[in-house]
Amino acid sequence: MNFQLSEEHLMIQGAARDFAQNECKPGVIERDEKMQHPTALVKRMAELGFLGMMVSPEYGGSGLDTISYVLAMEEISKVDASCSVIMSVNNSLVCWGIEAFGSEEQKQKYLPDLALGNMIGAFCLSEPEAGSDATSQRTTAIDMGDHYLLNGTKNWITNGGHAGLYLVIAQSHTEKKHRGINVFIVDRNWKGVTVGAKENKMGIRASDTHSIMFQDVIVPKENRIGEDGFGFKFAMKTLDGGRIGIASQALGIASGAYELAVAYSKERQSFGKPISNHQAIQFKLADMATQIEAARLLCLKAAYLKDTNQPYGPAAAMAKLFASETAMQVTTEAVQVHGGYGYVKEYHVERLMRDAKITQIYEGTSEIQRLVIARSVLED
Ligand code: CAA
Repeated sequence: MNFQLSEEHLMIQGAARDFAQNECKPGVIERDEKMQHPTALVKRMAELGFLGMMVSPEYGGSGLDTISYVLAMEEISKVDASCSVIMSVNNSLVCWGIEAFGSEEQKQKYLPDLALGNMIGAFCLSEPEAGSDATSQRTTAIDMGDHYLLNGTKNWITNGGHAGLYLVIAQSHTEKKHRGINVFIVDRNWKGVTVGAKENKMGIRASDTHSIMFQDVIVPKENRIGEDGFGFKFAMKTLDGGRIGIASQALGIASGAYELAVAYSKERQSFGKPISNHQAIQFKLADMATQIEAARLLCLKAAYLKDTNQPYGPAAAMAKLFASETAMQVTTEAVQVHGGYGYVKEYHVERLMRDAKITQIYEGTSEIQRLVIARSVLED
């Protein structure tokens, strides 16, 4: 077993760190406050190859492995979790889904634009009444012979307002339950596609989240991904990889807050010495460091399994569960270490604490991750 990152991995990690510290940090507080989409930073992420990290070079991507993706996600999430969720959804839900399961024509038509940042993508699974219970899709895509007719509403869609392309999961044969579900590549500009109001969120406020409505949208047959009825499996398989991305985001939020807490504890004096000299603070930092290291190892292990074509769904669920719980605990403790300063916006940790919460919810709640893990444990 080798815990050493390769030269290439270290280079990617360094590039992501430089980008995050030099380009994402300025203005991050203001973008959060004003819910301002980081459009210029998304463009920069495309230029640096972060939007299509795992896409093959023949389709315009960087052709990197999942370990590189985890490393980049951690560094960017330390500073700006809004940027990193945009990156994560584009990479692991949209690009990966199309490259893994799309037709050659679909890959050639859509991947270069997604990887090169000419447009970003969004993944439309959740509905007002289908969140954790993802099989209960009410959006319908009825086979009309030469096309499908798409109707329904999707909720909490990350990138919803800025996406040029939606992957839409919809029911085509209600009687077949989840085996009747399909997935389609839908162009945002098609007639009948409406972007709903932007959500005013607790965290990751600079990323945009919308409901998306589809009314009698004509979807060409060639825009269905995979065989008829493959949509639910597509969503599950794609989310397995997506969860590695969100786990890495949670890891980055935790390590960003931890680094701020360590630095602050060395500066801040109380009772005549830096607070880092008090055992009460030392124990907090020790627990934070240990949890973060464990979360990092789980993320890298899930990525390694994916990169080596081994089953990785349960490992991804463990990484997401543990890293997101860690993010919540570590950011809360980082605010505590900062005391009153931690509760005000200039010190970043309060934002990281708000950003951490969503990692326990999206791409499968902590409860869903436990369900996935329990099923795999009981299968063995
Ligand atoms: N890979 C491949 N196939 C899978 C699978 C996986 N990981 N998980 C399930 N399946 C298959 C099963 O084998 C089964 O297939 P068959 O009928 O052919 O045997 C089928 O899918 C149905 O599976 P289940 O019986 O397990 O379905 P279920 O309803 O009991 O539970 C679930 C499934 C795990 C709870 C699932 O519904 C789930 O993951 N829910 C959470 C959804 C989610 O993560 N939503 C996030 C929204 S996207 C988002 O947040 C993006 C964003 O914007 C940031």
